[in-house]
Amino acid sequence: MNKQFFITTAIDYVNGQPHLGHAYEKIVADVIARSRRSLGQETFFLTGLDEHGQKIQQAAQAEGKSPQAYCDELAVDWKAFAKKLELTNDDFVRTTEPRHKEVVQAILTKLHAAGQFYRKTYRGFYSTKEETFLTDKDRRPDGTFDPAYGEVIELEENNYWFKLREQQQWLIDYLEKNPSFVAPDHRRNEVLGFLKNNELEDLCISRPAARLNWGIPLPFDKDFVTYVWFDALVNYISIPAAHGDATVLSALKNSQPSTLNPQLSLWPADIHVVGKDIVKFHAVFWPIMLKAMGLPLPKQILVHGWWQKDGAKISKSTGNIVDPIAVIDEWGLDAFRFYVLRELDIGPDGNWTDAGFKSRYQAELANGLGNLINRSLSMLKRYRNGVVPAKHDELAAAAAKAADETRALLKQNQLQSALQSIWGLVTRANQYVDQTKPFSLAKDPAQARRLDEVLYNLTETCRVLAVLLWSFLPGTAVKIYAQLGLTSAPDKLDNVTWGGLPAGHKIGEPAPLFPRKEER
Ligand code: ME8
Ligand code: MG
Repeated sequence: MNKQFFITTAIDYVNGQPHLGHAYEKIVADVIARSRRSLGQETFFLTGLDEHGQKIQQAAQAEGKSPQAYCDELAVDWKAFAKKLELTNDDFVRTTEPRHKEVVQAILTKLHAAGQFYRKTYRGFYSTKEETFLTDKDRRPDGTFDPAYGEVIELEENNYWFKLREQQQWLIDYLEKNPSFVAPDHRRNEVLGFLKNNELEDLCISRPAARLNWGIPLPFDKDFVTYVWFDALVNYISIPAAHGDATVLSALKNSQPSTLNPQLSLWPADIHVVGKDIVKFHAVFWPIMLKAMGLPLPKQILVHGWWQKDGAKISKSTGNIVDPIAVIDEWGLDAFRFYVLRELDIGPDGNWTDAGFKSRYQAELANGLGNLINRSLSMLKRYRNGVVPAKHDELAAAAAKAADETRALLKQNQLQSALQSIWGLVTRANQYVDQTKPFSLAKDPAQARRLDEVLYNLTETCRVLAVLLWSFLPGTAVKIYAQLGLTSAPDKLDNVTWGGLPAGHKIGEPAPLFPRKEER
């Protein structure tokens, strides 16, 4: 049985509507998933929702609903949002599902039996918003905690703790021996710096049910529920277990999660895509949890930066937000996908501006790609009744260069650079129109051969672009193929090879892909 390429996103807290940051992360993961499939790899893409914990309980309370009813209602919106983004996720996990909860409990049972947990009373500062105890290291120079932590309260509690202290050295060694475990590099260096300069604190893995009951009960002590992060991280293996993944199931032996498809081999994950604020959970706690369970580590934690809008933090309370749904409804999904992927590389922070969005739409989509496809196909229609002339290779080298670069960049998850390379071909082909002037050639019957050559080069370049764009702008790629009169899908990079359009093939109807918008 072949192991599939397994890619995940963070699972979002379901305490509000999805925002730009959530959309960005899911689109990044979707492009990687699509590109792996396009490269011929069997791929499984998992995303979903994090539904337990105090902030969900409080949000539900504020609306006078039970936490489960609250989550059930919002989960409908989030699943619709995944569809709206045209995510090709193969499953959608909700941490309140039995298939997830039973795996969390099996792991807790196993680790408890193995003596990994102990009890202690701890007095400390607690951030509900981030569901975590804070330490003095989290204080700012003036002694206060960052407002990002929300209300911070002092708590004294008796809880179950997971022994982390003894794990510090092997994790340091692992990070040093596996430089690509955390990407980009500067995030790995941050994790290493943290591990080398601090003593790891043990991890509190329970919350007293008397304070917080919206969580998975500890199987060995009904007075406690599971700490939401311990619960949430497990989604990356509970879903493989639910699909019958043998690696995970054998590590859990004493449990019998329902098996949907025992043919699937997923674990270890190839990529966990996460935001910069949750690196420690994924690059420190999660590997230690996995090692304690006897499971291999994921191959890579791929860390993206955060979006701001107009240079300021995105925040519901100040109203500084980008509503992805409104943008998509006005400009189209692919315009939204294009902007976030082209504007921001995976790693640094980004800044959304409406002016920047419009300018990329106008220059790169409407005047660049859209214009190329529309004028190329319109000219073939007008001058040759939509029939593809004999093969000619004037743009073949430019197309092959873009294809080779895109293939290589996609394998390294360099999405922004891949788009730059693809747009190199768009620009080259638009220049080719300006240089060869097919509209002038058409006026001179003696130039009929030359016009055939130019039209073949342009039409075939449109086809190549559809294949290259498939992972990024799936709707646009499909439309280009339809306008070319092709019934196949542009979803395999092997079909990028020059010469795919046979002479005599009749194309479909050209139509603008990115209509120019009037300034309002
Ligand atoms: O952290 N720009 O959920 P979450 C880019 N449930 N990304 C952003 C962002 C922004 N402005 N704001 C948030 C959680 N994100 C946990 C995860 S995983 C087992 C559990 C990203 O809803 C953030 O970095 O607070 C994270 O990767 C994701 O959105 C979900 O954040
Ligand atoms: Mg968050």
